[in-house]
Amino acid sequence: MDDLMELLKTRRTYRRFEQREISQEIIEEILTAARLASSAANRQPLSYIVVKGAEKVAQVFSHTRWAGALPPEQGQPKEGERPVLFIAVVENKDINPDCDTDAGLAIGNMTLAAWNRGVGSCMIGACNKPALAEMFGLTQQQVLHTVVAFGYPSHASNIVDMEDPALFKYYLDENRDYCVPKRKLADVVRYL
Ligand SMILES: Cc1cc2nc3c(=O)[nH]c(=O)nc-3n(C[C@H](O)[C@H](O)[C@H](O)COP(=O)(O)O)c2cc1C
Repeated sequence: MDDLMELLKTRRTYRRFEQREISQEIIEEILTAARLASSAANRQPLSYIVVKGAEKVAQVFSHTRWAGALPPEQGQPKEGERPVLFIAVVENKDINPDCDTDAGLAIGNMTLAAWNRGVGSCMIGACNKPALAEMFGLTQQQVLHTVVAFGYPSHASNIVDMEDPALFKYYLDENRDYCVPKRKLADVVRYL
C-alpha cells in the first residue's frame, strides 16, 4: 500500500521528455491498464489509437497545447523535449454516448501503469480535435476525448501545499522543475 501511495504522489504531469523509445511491452501494459478500468454498465465504449514513430508523433504534437498556466516559451516542450508516444482516447457514442467518467478512469489507469514503469505522461485536453479526428479517420459515431502524451521525463515535478486557495496555478522553480500546488486535505474534506 505504501508503494501505491508513493506511486500516486510521484505520478505527476510531465511535460519534457528524454528522446528514448518506449518498449512495445510497456505500451501494451498501458493499454491493458486502460482496458481493465471500470465502465458504466460494463459497456466499455472506449477505444485507443496508438501514435508512435517520430513523424506521426510530430504531426499529433503540432495539434496540442501544453501548460496553459505558463507562457508558451516555458510550458510548450521544445524540439528534443517532446513526447515519443501519444495514445488517443476515443469515445464510441454508439456503445455509450455518456462516457466521460469512463474516459477519466481509463486515463487514470494508463498514466499510473506508465509511471509504474518510469514513463511520465501528460493528458492533453487542449488539442485541435477536428484536425486530429480527421488524421485518425474517426467515424461519425466516434468522438476524440483526449490525447495522452508519454515519455521518460527529463524534469521533476513536486507537490507543494496550497497556502492560498486562489493560488492554484502550477509553476516552474529555479531548476525548471514543476511545482504543483494541491489543496490541503482540511480544505477539501468535511466529515458529517
Ligand atoms: C481533463 C484534463 C485536461 C488536461 N489538459 C491539459 C492540456 O491540454 N495541456 C497540459 O499541458 N496539461 C493538461 N492537463 C494536466 C493538468 O494541467 C495537470 O493535471 C494539473 O496541472 C495538475 O498536475 P498533476 O497532474 O501533476 O497533479 C490536463 C489535466 C486534466 C485532468
